[in-house]
Amino acid sequence: MPGRRIGWPVRAVLALLLLPLTAAIGDTRSGLSPAEREFLDRHWRRPVPPQGDPPARFSAIERSLAPASCGTCHPTQFTDWKTTRHARALGPGVAGQLADLAKIAPAVVPNCLACHAPLAEQQPTLAGASGPAANPAFDAAVEQQGLVCAACHVRRHEHFGPPRRDGTLESTAPRSSLPHNGVTRSRTFVRSEFCASCHQFGPSGLTLNGKPLENTYDEWRASPAAREGRQCQDCHMPDRRHLWRGIHDPDMVKSGVRISFTTDRRRYRPGEEVRATLSIANTNVGHFFPTYVTPMVVVRAVLTDAQGGTIAGSEQQMSIGRDVTPSLSQERADTRIAPGGRLTFTYSRRLDRPGLRLAVAVTVFPDYFYVRFFEAILANGVGLGTAQIREAFDETRRSSYTIFSRDMPLT
Ligand code: HEC
Ligand code: HEC
Ligand code: HEC
Ligand code: HEC
Ligand code: HEC
Repeated sequence: MPGRRIGWPVRAVLALLLLPLTAAIGDTRSGLSPAEREFLDRHWRRPVPPQGDPPARFSAIERSLAPASCGTCHPTQFTDWKTTRHARALGPGVAGQLADLAKIAPAVVPNCLACHAPLAEQQPTLAGASGPAANPAFDAAVEQQGLVCAACHVRRHEHFGPPRRDGTLESTAPRSSLPHNGVTRSRTFVRSEFCASCHQFGPSGLTLNGKPLENTYDEWRASPAAREGRQCQDCHMPDRRHLWRGIHDPDMVKSGVRISFTTDRRRYRPGEEVRATLSIANTNVGHFFPTYVTPMVVVRAVLTDAQGGTIAGSEQQMSIGRDVTPSLSQERADTRIAPGGRLTFTYSRRLDRPGLRLAVAVTVFPDYFYVRFFEAILANGVGLGTAQIREAFDETRRSSYTIFSRDMPLT
């Protein structure tokens, strides 16, 4: 009986039922022409409607929606894409939850797939008049592949893409002479609004403390980066690379923040007080650092003795993140750093003996929330996705890394 076994992890997921599937960002989009808005509304209807019959002249490889097929002619994008979270958007953490949900709350599943595997062809069943019905367009070759190329680029077998690198939109050669009948180019591909339908909850989505659970686009709109005209793509797809590096990538994170560390003096005598200051400035993240409720960044300072052992009671730490309860019912704290903002951590302590050192580190836990969330699912979940959730749990537990550390002698 699901009723008895549904614990809070499942309720949390049910809360996501409130997510809007369409018109996610409503009329908040500025700087787009009405035609461009209309283009995006049509482009991001989800599930992306079945592609239908391909043009007769298409070869098998041009018909295929599988990323590997695109990759035969676009190897650079395919090689990049394979390494990304987008390619793993139906990884074990999501798939494991979907296995449980399919049993206890099947109506939620399409909601998740809308962002994690948005093509109709990726879904074995589609919503019908009287519940889920077998989907004749289902294509097992793309089911598990997450956010595939075609989800962003192909509608009714028509290929869409950004303006040429010289800014032009029109094709000089007749389209019918080009592979996949050429490309329909739209400026929306180089605009933040292109990403927003999955990276921003709309007005009817879940909010905590007055802020949507997912708020990246609105954070960006209020940022210096937006005022300078820098879009999501400029930072996350530099030179049009399909890498989408984010919080899981140490170099990407380091590129967005500046960390400085000082002590009030260079040497201390026993009995004196050390005062150390570490400050983290959000210099080049185009939204809050970090933007989601899932990561946590921890600044930790501790005294160590000559043998490297930590001095009991000398540890101080500060967390940077938007800390929400695993049930998604409450925001406990929001200490994220706004774009252009800075957070300062001060360590002070009297030194009671010679030979002490101060060790400071800034550690990123990209999956802080999920570690606790997956753990709770393993304890209370329905059990159908257990093997996958366990795999995701092991992965998220190991994903932390350090972006800054100092170990300095004090006396
Ligand atoms: C048989 C080879 C072939 C296959 C398969 C193929 N493409 Fe292409 N694609 C091309 C060629 C050639 C061009 C350049 C056309 C032009 O200049 O208009 C192109 C252009 C594009 C562009 C615009 C590139 C630019 O320079 O701005 C995009 C986007 C694109 N393809 C996406 C895809 C996707 C997505 C798939 C898989 C669903 C795919 N293509 C499959 C050959 C292919
Ligand atoms: C509006 C788009 C959207 C919807 C709807 C959505 N997600 Fe996500 N999901 C995201 C984004 C964006 C991330 C990446 C956030 C991050 O960096 O952790 C994510 C991350 C995740 C992750 C962690 C990453 C991983 O692969 O393990 C899980 C698990 C997950 N989502 C499950 C779900 C489930 C289950 C549902 C349905 C109840 C759902 N999502 C609905 C956009 C969405
Ligand atoms: C999340 C959406 C998304 C996915 C998934 C995606 N692309 Fe793109 N693609 C874009 C955007 C956005 C641009 C334009 C980026 C820019 O100009 O800054 C682009 C640009 C391109 C271009 C033009 C590159 C150039 O140098 O002019 C090609 C070709 C392309 N994509 C092919 C692919 C292929 C092949 C895949 C899968 C392996 C893929 N894309 C997956 C969003 C996506
Ligand atoms: C169809 C929905 C969709 C669209 C459109 C989309 N994304 Fe994503 N994105 C996701 C999902 C889902 C994830 C999380 C995948 C996972 O980890 O399971 C994600 C993850 C990411 C991450 C990695 C976060 C991390 O944890 O490191 C970045 C960066 C990102 N997206 C940027 C972009 C940018 C930039 C665009 C626009 C060019 C874009 N996305 C368009 C759904 C989408
Ligand atoms: C000025 C550069 C810049 C712009 C513009 C920018 N980002 Fe980021 N983004 C970063 C950096 C740097 C990180 C890594 C630090 C972090 O995670 O906050 C990041 C991280 C992320 C992550 C990882 C998850 C997390 O919690 O941080 C996602 C998802 C993301 N960005 C999506 C977007 C989207 C969507 C847009 C556009 C609305 C966008 N970004 C605009 C620089 C930028």
